[in-house]
Amino acid sequence: MSKAFGFVAYGGPENQEFLDRPAPEPGPGTLLIAVRAAGVNPADWKKRRGMFGTGDDLPAVLGSEAAGVVRAVGPGVSGFAVGDAVFGTTPVGAFAEHTLLAAEGAAHKPGGVTFAQAAALPVAAATAYDAVRQLDLDPGRTLLILGIAGGVGSAAAQLAREQGLRVLGTAGEHSRAHVEALGATPVRYGEGVGERVAAAAPDGVDGILDLVGGEAVRAVAGVLTDRSKLVSTVDPATAEELGGGYVRRDGTGAVLTVLADLVAAGKFDPQITATYPLAHAAEAMAAVESGHARGKLILEVS
Ligand SMILES: NC(=O)c1ccc[n+]([C@@H]2O[C@H](COP(=O)([O-])OP(=O)(O)OC[C@H]3O[C@@H](n4cnc5c(N)ncnc54)[C@H](OP(=O)(O)O)[C@@H]3O)[C@@H](O)[C@H]2O)c1
Repeated sequence: MSKAFGFVAYGGPENQEFLDRPAPEPGPGTLLIAVRAAGVNPADWKKRRGMFGTGDDLPAVLGSEAAGVVRAVGPGVSGFAVGDAVFGTTPVGAFAEHTLLAAEGAAHKPGGVTFAQAAALPVAAATAYDAVRQLDLDPGRTLLILGIAGGVGSAAAQLAREQGLRVLGTAGEHSRAHVEALGATPVRYGEGVGERVAAAAPDGVDGILDLVGGEAVRAVAGVLTDRSKLVSTVDPATAEELGGGYVRRDGTGAVLTVLADLVAAGKFDPQITATYPLAHAAEAMAAVESGHARGKLILEVS
């Protein structure tokens, strides 16, 4: 049997518990891995709360990104072998001793990258990469990131700086030092944020990456010179209403390889601010569900 952490009913954290399940069988196009580390994301508590629908067979295992060692290769998979160190996303839960990765969306972990670092890349960093690429701003332009201190924001700030962009980001006062360390200018969110952003970027901003949604976007949209340069990971309706759109996800292992190579080269830091053993998965979930996690939180499974 394989130990896992999941939820037995849709709703609050009281529905979370440890589960014993047989290790999943690798079907066509998938890899069975022994999980070494898994990343924690807002999508985990959103899924448990039923915000993505309530049609999953329960109990369901939490977590959607993992790094580990290949134990078995499903039919039709090429390029991966038993014993390879890999990472990627999983539809069957990552907070587990064993899980399945879709081979198409998986990548090899370079030797200079830890399992924890690799587990931090498939969701937040890959989303940040897709968003920065979609915005396609020239060097010297100014990017505003709403919610810069979290997993996606901390990654996007670094990737944008790497491309020569000037970066501003909204965060709480307690996140100021974290944002400055990313090479970005922090702007406190809350009442008056529109004026504070305008003061920090008197010539306007050339792109907005929205990781918060709703009023947080409306309050600052006026500073954007070209409204098509507004992309959101969280609130497509408001982004579209304001002239922007949703971040389009690539979802292939190619993006993961680019990111892992940047980590190995010392050009990108996944910003892991806390690691928890699998036994403390509920604590890690609560930290992310608070809405104020900084950078990435990781579960170390074995
Ligand atoms: N569509 C996709 O493919 C996709 C992929 C990844 C993520 N997402 C979504 O994108 C969003 C961000 O993900 P994430 O992983 O970065 O989340 P996260 O790590 O949980 O974000 C936490 C951060 O949000 C900041 N924050 C909270 N309220 C804020 C506000 N009103 N204004 C500015 N910052 C605020 C907090 O900063 P302070 O502590 O300073 O308050 C905290 O650092 C989530 O909703 C997630 O579900 C979507």
